Amino acid sequence: MGLARVAVLISGSGTNLQALIDASRSGALGAEIALVISHRAGAYGLERARRAGIPARVVRPRDFPDRASHERAVDELLRAHDVAYVCLAGYMRVLSADFVHSWRDRMLNIHPSLLPAFRGLDVHERVLEAGLPVTGCTVHLVRPEVDAGPVLVQGVVPVLPGDTPERLQARVLEVEHRCYPRALRFLVEGRVRVEGERALLADERPGERLVLHPLLASWPGAG
Ligand code: GAR
Repeated sequence: MGLARVAVLISGSGTNLQALIDASRSGALGAEIALVISHRAGAYGLERARRAGIPARVVRPRDFPDRASHERAVDELLRAHDVAYVCLAGYMRVLSADFVHSWRDRMLNIHPSLLPAFRGLDVHERVLEAGLPVTGCTVHLVRPEVDAGPVLVQGVVPVLPGDTPERLQARVLEVEHRCYPRALRFLVEGRVRVEGERALLADERPGERLVLHPLLASWPGAG
């Protein structure tokens, strides 16, 4: 049997896409990134796809009369490329309930907070405003509600004195890049079972669903 075929939907820089491409290349993913779709022509992630020799397509909402026909075009591309799983990686468009249902439990999203806290935009600004000592990221199965759904993997990142939103974003991204390949691997290996609003992992070992920022390995608060 061939590797599972995965599509990555992007809007911008595509560093998570790059992490998935790298993990796929190294054999750590057990899946092949078979297609990249952006809704913006200028997304740098398209360049990453081209460099990796992965088919990259732009499907712009403005070229379609309404959201349903735009999503239909995306869905047709996914099916034409024989895609089994979809990863939203900084895809900043809300998908309709119909689209989400048709990829139910086969579509992942990554969000730069410890969900269910801080859904939506300007996450790092809001974490800093709240004065929290910890933040992170979440990879979850997609549900129609934005930034919600059964959680597969979370990454934990310390907030440091003097942090700016940009510094915090960079630190969270480092951990995002380790969480996304791990979560996708769980899914393609068939280890994920959904029970209500929870994702359960078959034969789960302690810590498998958790990624710590490297700083935390020697954190004074440990223990
Ligand atoms: C990532 O931080 C991702 O978590 C976030 O967009 C960024 C994309 O970066 N996604 C969301 O906020 C979704 N609600 P990338 O293009 O470099 O992967």
